[in-house]
Formats: sequence, structure tokens, C-alpha cells
Amino acid sequence: MVTAKEFLCRCEDITMDDCRGAIHEGYSCFEDLKRFLGVGTGPCQGKACVSACMRLVADERGLPIEAVDVMTFRPPVRPVSFATLAAPDQTGDRP
Ligand code: FES
Repeated sequence: MVTAKEFLCRCEDITMDDCRGAIHEGYSCFEDLKRFLGVGTGPCQGKACVSACMRLVADERGLPIEAVDVMTFRPPVRPVSFATLAAPDQTGDRP
């Protein structure tokens, strides 16, 4: 059983209760919750919380899950190490 104090987004310490409150304040889609609370913006980039958040939005709004907008994913979609970003350009091209 999921309780109100249970974390929905562990990366950003956001509880189910935080999300429910935001939904009832009018933040009614996933993108709104992402911008208002930071859901899905942690190190896992939403891998652990996006589907649970979408389910909560659907349940709170009385919608089928298919009617809830999906998060806009932006590159990089996978974590990139600082070593990779700082590595010399392998193509020999210089900016
Ligand atoms: S659990 Fe939400 S961003 Fe990682």
C-alpha cells in the first residue's frame, strides 16, 4: 500500500503528498509537476519515478493513463561522466 508520506521521486525527495497537493493547486500534467516540484529531474532522470507520477496524475484527475502527457526527454538521455565530457576530441576537429 502506498501512503501519502511515501516518496514518489527519491532523487528529489518529493512525496506522493507533495504531488497530490500540486495537482490540486492546478499543476495538472507531468510537465507542470516537473517544473514546479522537480519530479524527474534528479540523477536518474525520471527512470524511477515518471511512470508512478503519471499514474498519480491519472488517478487524481480521473483520467486513463493514456490521456496523461509524457515527459519531454532531452539529451543526454543517459548519464554522461565528466571524464567523457572532458576527454579530448577524438576526431581531431577543433572548435
Ligand atoms: S526518482 Fe525521480 S528523478 Fe530519480
